[in-house]
Amino acid sequence: MTAPTSPQVEVLPTADAAIPILLGELRAALVRRPRPLIGFATGGTFTAFFAALAAEFAAQRLRGSDFVATHLDEYAGFDAARRGGMVHELVTHCAGFGEMLRSGAFLPVPGSEAGLAAHEAAIAACGGVELQFLGIGRNGHIAFNEPGTPFERGFHATTLAASTRDDARPRFLPEEPPRQAITSGIATILAARRVVLCAFGRGKAPAVAAMLRGAVNATCPASAIRRHANAVVLLDNEAAGDLRAQASAQS
Ligand code: PGA
Repeated sequence: MTAPTSPQVEVLPTADAAIPILLGELRAALVRRPRPLIGFATGGTFTAFFAALAAEFAAQRLRGSDFVATHLDEYAGFDAARRGGMVHELVTHCAGFGEMLRSGAFLPVPGSEAGLAAHEAAIAACGGVELQFLGIGRNGHIAFNEPGTPFERGFHATTLAASTRDDARPRFLPEEPPRQAITSGIATILAARRVVLCAFGRGKAPAVAAMLRGAVNATCPASAIRRHANAVVLLDNEAAGDLRAQASAQS
């Protein structure tokens, strides 16, 4: 049996070591295709990357006219300006995204199902997602595709898992985190031409092991990445901990 070639898995000494790799992935996408659609992922995993992007914009090494930006998901009922929301997070960490939003070069995920057909049409009009950045939840979710979500789904409304809400709680204090969200589906994610998934920290280690070594099914939504022909998984040492433990138990 030949070893699978995708996803390619890279274990990095630190999470910060991923930043030049992520910038390189973005630059490569800009070379592959004029004005490609880039799908960003929100969450703590990518905060340092957004700071690096902000520096790229500030130094004019990156321009809002170079690409079209979108993202994976949004809390139900949230618009671009609402604190705690995904668009708000993106434009807060990287002012360049705010300019892109104003110029129409940023496609925000709508906060209700009503706008989904138009959003999917806008993605299609850009030729689909050229490069999709992706995180992973402690429960193995990707975007807000919680365990049990069929791989065939496109954008849809969903109910957040308890662990997802627990992890989101700090960004909403003193209020409670939302219960519902709009999310790109696993089929949407797998349709991207290149997928770059990042997982950092000990808390992600069990989900990473399930994604890469467990069954490929809806119990671990992230396992769907093994059905993508052109994906890379970037881990720090801690997130790779359970993979290593499994490998040494088997040797
Ligand atoms: P995080 O979230 O980057 O905040 O850990 C990732 C995710 O839930 O997909």
